[in-house]
Amino acid sequence: MISIPSLRNKFRTLSGREARVFSAPGRVNLIGEHTDYNDGFVLPMALDQRTYVAAAAREDGVIRCWSTHYPGEVRFHLGPDLKPAPDWANHLRGIAACLLRDEYHLKGADLLIDSDIPIGAGLSSSAAIEVATGYALLKLAEEPVDLVDLALAAQRAEHEFAGTKCGIMDQYVSCMGVENHALLIDCRSLEYRAVPLDFARTRVVICNTMIRHELADGEYNQRRAECEEGVRRLAGHLPGILALRDVEHEEFDLYADSLPPRVMRRCNHVITENMRALEAVKALEHQDLTTFGRLMYASHASLREDYEVSCPELNAMVEIASQCDGVHGARMTGGGFGGCTVNLVETAKVDQFVQAITNGYQAKTGITPECYVCQSSGGVREEHL
Ligand code: GLA
Repeated sequence: MISIPSLRNKFRTLSGREARVFSAPGRVNLIGEHTDYNDGFVLPMALDQRTYVAAAAREDGVIRCWSTHYPGEVRFHLGPDLKPAPDWANHLRGIAACLLRDEYHLKGADLLIDSDIPIGAGLSSSAAIEVATGYALLKLAEEPVDLVDLALAAQRAEHEFAGTKCGIMDQYVSCMGVENHALLIDCRSLEYRAVPLDFARTRVVICNTMIRHELADGEYNQRRAECEEGVRRLAGHLPGILALRDVEHEEFDLYADSLPPRVMRRCNHVITENMRALEAVKALEHQDLTTFGRLMYASHASLREDYEVSCPELNAMVEIASQCDGVHGARMTGGGFGGCTVNLVETAKVDQFVQAITNGYQAKTGITPECYVCQSSGGVREEHL
């Protein structure tokens, strides 16, 4: 856990000023993977692991920033010529540039960043830093905050400054998260429904393979391009479709054979995953965790076989989880190629589960995993401690 009073002290030492503190959460996605950029449905929850920004305004249009995780100070001027640079502050430049382009009048600022979201683990540490910083800059400049617009600006920052053509899920839930709820997000209309989670009976446990994922390595963008190719080809048979969201499963069955095999598998994943996400929400609302868990396993199999974004370590972890007592379901979560699994575990069996994953994963891979028993938390906010 991050101590806000000690963050304020560090800020005072570095900047000589008093800070306002803002924070935004990481996220775990329960189901609905690689559907967001296909205008589909996702079901993430905001985590109690958060990124904190201690901030004070400056009048000279300069951003001066520090991180508790990286040495040194980074400085840049707010202006239309902000460009990506390969240092830890790239996400800060990105969100500042995108907000300026949206015609917000930002002030310069001193910013100190701290975070307890593991980096590169698929828990949206970068969305959290973009959202927390964007929120801080808007609040310091006394600009109005529209959380959906902030999420969209943070998504553009990721596209333009990190090179990942991500969907809206991570930034959206980091802005809008609701404590003790997952959010069913319609990634086309950008509306959500908060779905209650019963943490007395069941816990969401995240298991980190410790294999760092790199979404910008091209695989992610390639999946997105394959989905777009699927839409272009299917539109020849189904005029009017704009995204895979618009394709019914029965329609897809009629025309699947006309697609190149790889594109067909990618589309099959997205179309069935959208169905699973909606069915999973119904199951959760009926407290039917058996069905929810079955859908999680089916999602994992589809991501492994059809979408090909899993990896041996993620598969091993899901396999071990499936053999544990008290586990309703398990699957990889986030972009894939490493990162974490998400597991739905009976509360009384959580300790036993963590032990079994640790031993089993170590025996299979030689790697010691990390497990986090999650609390769900709220979206971006100012901290008043
Ligand atoms: C990453 C992206 C999201 C989403 C997931 C996969 O986390 O940032 O937009 O596409 O992968 O569901």
